[in-house]
Amino acid sequence: MIKFQINGRDVSVDADPDTPLLWAIRDEVGLTGTKFGCGIGMCGACTVHVGGRATRSCITPLSDVAGTSVTTIEGLDEQSNHPVQEAWRNLRVPQCGYCQSGQIMQAAALLQDIPDPTDDDIDAVMTGNLCRCMTYPRIRQAVREAATAMTGAQDNG
Ligand code: FES
Ligand code: FES
Repeated sequence: MIKFQINGRDVSVDADPDTPLLWAIRDEVGLTGTKFGCGIGMCGACTVHVGGRATRSCITPLSDVAGTSVTTIEGLDEQSNHPVQEAWRNLRVPQCGYCQSGQIMQAAALLQDIPDPTDDDIDAVMTGNLCRCMTYPRIRQAVREAATAMTGAQDNG
């Protein structure tokens, strides 16, 4: 039995310690916003936060998350009002949408690390998150918009 927190909730998963975290999130916990793309850590569709860090859940064994805190797209903000989600909506970033929960989780982690990223910073971090629909220009624009919203909010706070 492996115990950890997911979106602030305690969970216990009875599975082999080598089971990918992605399977536990989708099949055991029942949160299906996190997607399977490549299964080998190359596309970013499965990105979640583990201890606040962007993590590819398809290649993270359950044993690695014992005692940690995992956040998925469902828990990024309970009302889906995270500035990154708002920017994604404002700019209508998604096309088919399949890659987008991973894109949003990666972008949110980026803005935690670099609150006011340059385009080079954005490209360097987001380049590992692939989008077959080629939404890259809108992703970059949305990260900039979210950064402005977040740093503006901090300045005013
Ligand atoms: S499904 Fe995990 S990186 Fe592609
Ligand atoms: S929106 Fe379709 S794969 Fe990215």
